[in-house]
Amino acid sequence: MKREDFVSLKDWFKGFCESFYSSGREDRLNITLKERHSFSVLENMALLAPRHLESEDGVVLAEAVGLLHDVGRFPQYARYKTFRDSISVNHGTLGVETLVKEGPLARMNEDEYAILTQSVKYHNAYKVPTGLNAETVTHLKLIRDADKLDIWRVFIEYFDTDEADRPSAAALGLPLVGTCSDDVLRCIYNRRMVALKDVSTLDDYKLLQLSWIFDLNFSTSHKLLLERGYIGRILGNMPQVNDLESFLTACVKEKADG
Ligand SMILES: [Fe+2]
Repeated sequence: MKREDFVSLKDWFKGFCESFYSSGREDRLNITLKERHSFSVLENMALLAPRHLESEDGVVLAEAVGLLHDVGRFPQYARYKTFRDSISVNHGTLGVETLVKEGPLARMNEDEYAILTQSVKYHNAYKVPTGLNAETVTHLKLIRDADKLDIWRVFIEYFDTDEADRPSAAALGLPLVGTCSDDVLRCIYNRRMVALKDVSTLDDYKLLQLSWIFDLNFSTSHKLLLERGYIGRILGNMPQVNDLESFLTACVKEKADG
C-alpha cells in the first residue's frame, strides 16, 4: 500500500469513528476507547513491522491492518452495547463485513486486499488458522502482537481511572475477589494461555490477560512488553503470588533475547 493511500484511509477511519459518537457519556467513553486503541495499535505496528517486513508497501499495509483491525467494534457496540463477542457477534468477521459495506478499500490491489481482510477477520481468533499464505500469516502475527501490547495498556489505564470515568464495556463484570484460582495459576506456570471458562474472579482475568505473553510471536514484542513494564503494572494491583512476577518476566526475557 502506498503512503498516500494510507493517508486517505486514515481520514476515512476518523470520519467512520465520528459517525458513532453520541451525546450519551457512557457510549462516548466506550467508542473513544476503541478509537484510541485503533490508533495506538497502528503505532505499535509502526514499531514492529519495519523489523519483520522487507518492503515499505508491506509496512504501510501492516499499519493499515493495525488501524482497521477493530473496525467491527463500532457497529458491534452500536447494535449490542457490548464488546463481548460471546454474547453478541464475532467482531473480526463483522469488521470484514463493515469494510465490504463501507468500501474504503476499493482502490486496493487484490493481494493486499486479501491480506488486510484476512488479518482483520482472524486477529481475534484463538490461534492463527492453517492454510493461509506466508505473507498473510506474517501480517496476522504482527497484528495479534500489536493488539495485545495495546490491550495491556488499556487494561492498566482502566484500573488507574476513577470508577465513574471508566468505559463500562472494557470490563467483564467479574467479582473483585482478591484471589486467583488454582487452575488459572497452574496454566500460567505451565506457560499456557488461560481459558475464559476457567476465570471466576477479576484477578483470574488479569492472569488470563498476562497469559497472552505465551502467544506473542516476535522478539520485538517481548522487548516492548519488558520496556513498558506491563507485567509488574498489571500484577501491581494484585495480591502477590509467590514468584509470579519474576517467573513471567523470565519467560518473556528468554524470548526477547532469542
Ligand atoms: Fe479486536
